[in-house]
Amino acid sequence: MTLITNDISYAIKTLNKGNVAAIPTETVYGLAANIFDETAVKQIFEIKNRPNNNPLIVHLKSTEQLKEVAKEIPPLATQLATQFWPGALTLVLNKQDCISDWVTSGKTTVAVRVPNHPLTLELLHHLNFPLAAPSANPFGSISPTNAKHVFDYFQNKIDVILDGGNCPNGIESTIIGFEGEQPVLYRFGAIPIEEIEKIVGPIKVHNKDSIAPSAPGMFTKHYAPKTKSFLVEDIEKKLKSISSEKIGVLLFQNKVKTSKPIVQYILSPTGDFKEASKNLYSYLHELDALSLDILLIEKLPNINLGKSINDRLNRAVAEL
Ligand code: TXA
Ligand code: MG
Repeated sequence: MTLITNDISYAIKTLNKGNVAAIPTETVYGLAANIFDETAVKQIFEIKNRPNNNPLIVHLKSTEQLKEVAKEIPPLATQLATQFWPGALTLVLNKQDCISDWVTSGKTTVAVRVPNHPLTLELLHHLNFPLAAPSANPFGSISPTNAKHVFDYFQNKIDVILDGGNCPNGIESTIIGFEGEQPVLYRFGAIPIEEIEKIVGPIKVHNKDSIAPSAPGMFTKHYAPKTKSFLVEDIEKKLKSISSEKIGVLLFQNKVKTSKPIVQYILSPTGDFKEASKNLYSYLHELDALSLDILLIEKLPNINLGKSINDRLNRAVAEL
């Protein structure tokens, strides 16, 4: 039985016992375990069916805790942590020896952030260890932004889901690493790159797949709905060429005019990127549950959070 509750005491017990608990963050829900307990961390990979060359993000209770997990912290990283933590920015830094290869997949670096969710911050303050937590979805599928999404994925494979409501950002953290002093972006995310560049200057983008991706959120096929999905610039035009029975469309701001009986979801009627990213995954979950023949998704303007959303959509529709 999985317990779904907003009472942190159950998550505290579960995590102290060396088991896995699902936790809310401001970005998406995570599947969390004690970073110092290898057996617990291994369970995360098993439950998610995640390849073990895909390292986890370490969640800290405070910026002061950073030196316990990372070393040789570049001054720009400290500046970013000061500016954005608690928040949706993950920093990739050289790891301390105490961090297990199971957390970092054998890398010498560790990805780390202080999440900005009141329940999870309170939880972290009651634990003697940071939490390793990837998104709480089976590997490759759409990330969860509420407790029900997590439950639907894992049913009774986890003891407890800490229910913190709907995630306000709705898209994963932005990941920044360093090549010497040069900041490098590994994953577009909930904090727009433009905001980060205001603090650190121009950032190099390393967001493309390579043989050994630095951030496997970069694997081409990821965040994928089960429904056959296409990312298109001009939905009205595409609709004219389609003869499928049950069609769904996911649009940024405006409905399309069509005589076909299609299901239309609008990410943000006011064209607000934040609202669009908050709704993105939950709408994809809903559309995926409608047994559609086909889902057409509209590309967003490629600026600000539109870039992060387009990045996820590109991976959601990519051919295997
Ligand atoms: O918003 C988020 O970041 C959420 C919440 C739960 O915090 N977590 C999340 O975790 O998105 P996950 O596992 O789905 O994505 C973690 C990403 C992966 O793409 C992984 O490759 C990258 O972080 N990562 C972890 N350690 C890394 C490292 N040492 N170097 C480069 N990338 C790393
Ligand atoms: Mg993920």
